[in-house]
Amino acid sequence: MQVTLKIFRYNPEVDKKFHYETYTLEADENERVLDLLEHVKGYHDGTLAYRRSCAHGVCGSDAMRINGSNHLACKTLVRDIGSKITVEPLLGLKVIKDLIVDMEPFFDNYKKVLPWFINDSPLPADGKERLQSPEQRERFDDTTKCILCAACTTSCPSYWGSEDYLGPAALVNAHRFVFDSRDEGAAERLKIVSDTNGVARCHTIYNCTLACPRGIQVTKAISELKAATVTGKVD
Ligand code: FES
Repeated sequence: MQVTLKIFRYNPEVDKKFHYETYTLEADENERVLDLLEHVKGYHDGTLAYRRSCAHGVCGSDAMRINGSNHLACKTLVRDIGSKITVEPLLGLKVIKDLIVDMEPFFDNYKKVLPWFINDSPLPADGKERLQSPEQRERFDDTTKCILCAACTTSCPSYWGSEDYLGPAALVNAHRFVFDSRDEGAAERLKIVSDTNGVARCHTIYNCTLACPRGIQVTKAISELKAATVTGKVD
């Protein structure tokens, strides 16, 4: 089939403002948007810039706007979006070049929620593992799936309004540790997400949940965090 691929282009070294370039390509309906970008870069314009690494929906590096909503280019099939395709960089983050955005503010917010295991208590008497039941593990299973692609955060109108808002991805990663029965940092993290740039900025718009390529119930996770900031309960 013939596909029209319209790509956002911006090179700060030569362009005063962005523009779009359109390519007409022969493509199989089972090809992915990433395959089309690779084709353009390989055969039409080697200067086209975008991020990708695993090409299998694991690393999270190729999130971009495809026909107006956030997706991973490596998980988006031509047959699912049709023959007219527009690709643009994620909203809310500064464009460095073409489809590449500056992820630093995103990762700065991620680090603020202390996204690592906190437990300074001695190990159990047998010196082995800190055990938890299948139910305790299930409590935070959904939020372990985050690949930090930023599709959720950059689809959130509250984040577009202020990059000081921690954003859905950072809150998802706070949830992952706050509800882990083995972790002892919940009180500290709940204090952080209670800040004016934390959960209060979520207006339950659900864009984040729709955008997540891993199917994480992002809005639900944020709601659970909100409740925990009030009740202090994390089980
Ligand atoms: S390239 Fe790794 S998630 Fe798409």
